Amino acid sequence: MTEPTGKNSPDSDSPGQLFTELTTPSRRHFLRTIGISGMAAATAPVWAQAAQLEAPVDDSEKPLAKGEQRITLTVNGQPYTLNVPGNAVLLDVVRDRLKLTGTKKGCDHGQCGACTLHINGIPVNSCLSLAAMHQGDEITTIEGLEHDGQLHPIQEAFWAHDAFQCGYCTSGQMMTAAAIIKDPNIGADDASVREAMSGNICRCGAYKNILAAVQDARSKIQGAS
Ligand code: FES
Ligand code: FES
Repeated sequence: MTEPTGKNSPDSDSPGQLFTELTTPSRRHFLRTIGISGMAAATAPVWAQAAQLEAPVDDSEKPLAKGEQRITLTVNGQPYTLNVPGNAVLLDVVRDRLKLTGTKKGCDHGQCGACTLHINGIPVNSCLSLAAMHQGDEITTIEGLEHDGQLHPIQEAFWAHDAFQCGYCTSGQMMTAAAIIKDPNIGADDASVREAMSGNICRCGAYKNILAAVQDARSKIQGAS
């Protein structure tokens, strides 16, 4: 993984003033308000509002159309019964049927990691997976990473370390990070984390801050246990 210096990096050649400018509350407020970035989706009040707007999807009384299959899924703890075309992609079902738009579509070819969510605890590129393959599975999206209004340590660390710029890759980065810090097969050293997260591309080059956030979250989780 290359590590270009992000323009918001504290190690930037620019004066410290630039860093200060870029991390002022107004910038954060902007990211939170527009609601289109992964980080904006990471704010608990936004998630809660979005969840309340949408009635639970339940197709159990709806006849299957030609080519559809009925699946039941649990997404962020909520059960769903869905009629889906056999070729429906999980990412599209999550975004378009369930309106959980924190999971992003980047390349749509399994190359960028923006669409990462957890299936039975394993991080998966949802753009490469058919919804019909997930009968009975438990899925967690970025909207489900917090619990009871409390952000996940990974989310707090991304926020604290300014580990994003445009935010488009951020939900995928956080979903992968949340999985790898729990994986005993992945080393805790920086090189292992970079390797484990190399499937998540950040076009803004925020890698340095992302790594710092992951390691900070790891130390906080270990300190709390
Ligand atoms: S959108 Fe799935 S890997 Fe890029
Ligand atoms: S923050 Fe822009 S692509 Fe990663």
